[in-house]
Amino acid sequence: MKFIVDQQVEDIEMPENLKLNTFLKEFHSTCPHPECSFGYYGFAFGQSPFPVPKLIQEALIKNADKGAYAPVSGIPELRNAISKYNKHYFGMDIASERIYVGPGTKELIFNLLEILHGTVILPTPAWLGYLPQIRFLKKNYHMLPTRANKKISPNDLRKLELRLQDRQKILILNNPNNPTGLLYDRLELEEIADVCREQNITVISDEIYAQTTYDFSKFVSMGKIYPEGTFVTNGLSKSHAAGGYRLGYVIFPQYAIDLKEQFKKILATEFTAVSTPIQHAAIAGFEISKEIDDYFDVTRNIHHIMGEYTYHALSSIEGVKATKPDATFYLLADFNSFASDLQKAKIATSQKLSESLILHPYHTAIVGGDSLVLERNDFSARIAYVDYDGAKVYQNYLDNKPKSSSERIEFVKNNAPRVVAGIEMIIKFFENIRKYTLHDLQIQKSSSVTPS
Ligand SMILES: Cc1ncc(COP(=O)(O)O)c(C=O)c1O
Repeated sequence: MKFIVDQQVEDIEMPENLKLNTFLKEFHSTCPHPECSFGYYGFAFGQSPFPVPKLIQEALIKNADKGAYAPVSGIPELRNAISKYNKHYFGMDIASERIYVGPGTKELIFNLLEILHGTVILPTPAWLGYLPQIRFLKKNYHMLPTRANKKISPNDLRKLELRLQDRQKILILNNPNNPTGLLYDRLELEEIADVCREQNITVISDEIYAQTTYDFSKFVSMGKIYPEGTFVTNGLSKSHAAGGYRLGYVIFPQYAIDLKEQFKKILATEFTAVSTPIQHAAIAGFEISKEIDDYFDVTRNIHHIMGEYTYHALSSIEGVKATKPDATFYLLADFNSFASDLQKAKIATSQKLSESLILHPYHTAIVGGDSLVLERNDFSARIAYVDYDGAKVYQNYLDNKPKSSSERIEFVKNNAPRVVAGIEMIIKFFENIRKYTLHDLQIQKSSSVTPS
């Protein structure tokens, strides 16, 4: 029997992360070299490596008997806990009626794009999740390329907005940012908010990495700066290392009363409610406790140490520009100064660059520029520095906190040898690119680099 797929689905591509997963699996099942059984250095996947906090795990077990459907917007105890959490950590007074719980922020962002009419403004580089959703919904959209500092320029935003004819415009702000790891400070947010207010732009502020901000006192939510026009999304996935729980929330703008029923209708139509036991478990994650507070502190410090090392190591390659992360577990490395050498080696696109780096002998997985909504020939890549055993590293950090900068470097070497070795591979690759063509790159392989 032949099934006909709806055109709407035909028109969108497989999300890059899933495509990459398939590619990596296929490559390793077909590579003939014995060393290929080793796997690869993983800089491609954006997942927190730490265990889910014990409190949450225990609450999940305790609530395994909750078999009834939950209310569409989320159970009241959870919405209350999220409200208090936002007060405590982000200094925002949010009535729990403004909070909607969903199966991850990805779904909630999709739901927001469904109910909000209008043209989407997508700053680039961007997280690879937004564009397929925008395309799937057949929304008008415009890219807003960031400048050399990789942040939205308020002037560029104003200029773009003035060209758009639509009755409503929606800016997707991702702060802290995936893929750059950069944080917008209060002044930068105020300047963006001024333009949004002036031009009546609605903001979806994806703040899923808020808790990972290395100096947490610097994080400011757009919901605080522009409360009348911002939808804030956040959840358990990154801060609590619980992406698999599939739980996120959205805070509605202050006076969006007429939208609320429409939104509830969409949630009820699409997923009814989030799993009830998961909602009960999430309460433990959002309630204020020393255990969770310590967990945030330790995990953000470890991300900081790994980020600092990765940034310095990659920046030491002549010609490489990397963003210096303030948060998250990513940075953006710009390899464009190698463009002519890469082209000589028949690497003309960022996709080809990712494929060449995964080949023997480099075994290194990165996310290339076109998956970050950059031009196909933009040789920038997202580097995620989470390829280590999170549970072990968490304990080692507690046992012996590194203090000086040399202790921090030692900490990475002892605790994240794959991150260290993977960066060495990237360094070797670009050294070799300067010297050889792609063909040579593959021939001279293990003589110069051998994965450990
Ligand atoms: C910027 C950004 N937003 C949203 C998400 C999705 O989060 P969730 O697990 O809540 O759907 C991710 C996950 O990788 C992300 O990086």
